[in-house]
Amino acid sequence: MSVAVVVVAAGSGTRLGLGIPKAFAPLQSWTVLDHALSRIPRDAQVVVVAPAEELDRARRIVAAHAGVAASVVAGGATRQQSVAAGLAALGDDVDVVLVHDAARALTPPVVFDRVAAAVRATGGGVIPVLPVADTIKRVAGESVAETVDRSELVAVQTPQGFPRAALDAAYASAAADHTDDAALFAAAGHAVTTVPGDERAFKITTADDLHRAALLLGPDWAVAGGRGGSGYDVHAYDADRPLRLGGLDWVGEPGLSGHSDGDAVLHAIVDALLSAAGLGDIGSNFGTDRPEYAGAASEVFLDETLRRIRDAGYAVVNVAVQIVGPHPKIGPRRAELEARLGALVGAPVSVSATTSDRLGFTGEKGLGALATALLSSAD
Ligand code: CTP
Ligand code: MG
Repeated sequence: MSVAVVVVAAGSGTRLGLGIPKAFAPLQSWTVLDHALSRIPRDAQVVVVAPAEELDRARRIVAAHAGVAASVVAGGATRQQSVAAGLAALGDDVDVVLVHDAARALTPPVVFDRVAAAVRATGGGVIPVLPVADTIKRVAGESVAETVDRSELVAVQTPQGFPRAALDAAYASAAADHTDDAALFAAAGHAVTTVPGDERAFKITTADDLHRAALLLGPDWAVAGGRGGSGYDVHAYDADRPLRLGGLDWVGEPGLSGHSDGDAVLHAIVDALLSAAGLGDIGSNFGTDRPEYAGAASEVFLDETLRRIRDAGYAVVNVAVQIVGPHPKIGPRRAELEARLGALVGAPVSVSATTSDRLGFTGEKGLGALATALLSSAD
């Protein structure tokens, strides 16, 4: 016999206000649904209930979570209808069902285990709860009627767990719309008990909640994913200096001014790598106004940046650079430039260029470089 988790993700996310279903809202480099799936214990069967018009997208997300044996079905107009659709898709061997809101995306695995164990131990419904911290008052309009005894109250989370047969029967006979599965289950005459919930199981409802989730995850959530970063640098042309760009010498081309060798391409790459790793920027790492870096070859910054990124647990997946300016002509040396930069970075680097059409600073007076970098967890 086995445990199944019905993940309801078919809501529209009206209060979040992004204009897309909440399950697909971006949270760090993932979606809300990715985070929810990544925290479900590996041995559970999973049914994801998704918006009917987004089944393919939900399937792609589910497929990215290897180890989660999951199917995807279309939800209904209410949460209760969505749960019913999920229950209908469960395999015959399931004897304990946990119903979980995708919107409670940071619920830790231990809560699923705790709820499932309590269902097996009690044979009844089980809900994870937290004590209520705020004072609660009953009001009539703007008038306060009374203070409610807080010790009798709890805040209810998901996953909520049930014996499968009794939950199926309760859903089949439900006459009204209930605010949660435990209320529907209790209305069918079954007992429901509580286990401790978890602060991290809060429901992402508003933009503030999404922001809180991002803060809780912090920069190191992406053990299994990638991190992107961007960088930009610009230097004025200085015809009296030799040109050093992208780690190559450009004989006969006007150079770039700057405290170091003025290699805007390497500087942009350094900034992109540091930003992807969440390690600040070139100024905060190397104090480019410091005397020991005067005239320094930019390879020194890049080598040290790559060391710091590795120490932070990341490897470079790839880097892309765009050079913006009327000269030098990049096309004839693009392959050489990409090979040189690839060797310096230790990962593929692609280079593109544009002239700025003689407009503005980078059309005439100087050269700009934009870089993006993608890092993965090194292990
Ligand atoms: N849900 C669902 N089917 C519905 C409505 C809600 O599967 N018809 C799911 C949501 O996707 C969410 C959970 O039930 O994971 C809790 O609902 P809620 O937080 O209200 O999400 P939304 O309905 O998407 O948000 P809103 O009410 O702001 O539109
Ligand atoms: Mg809703």
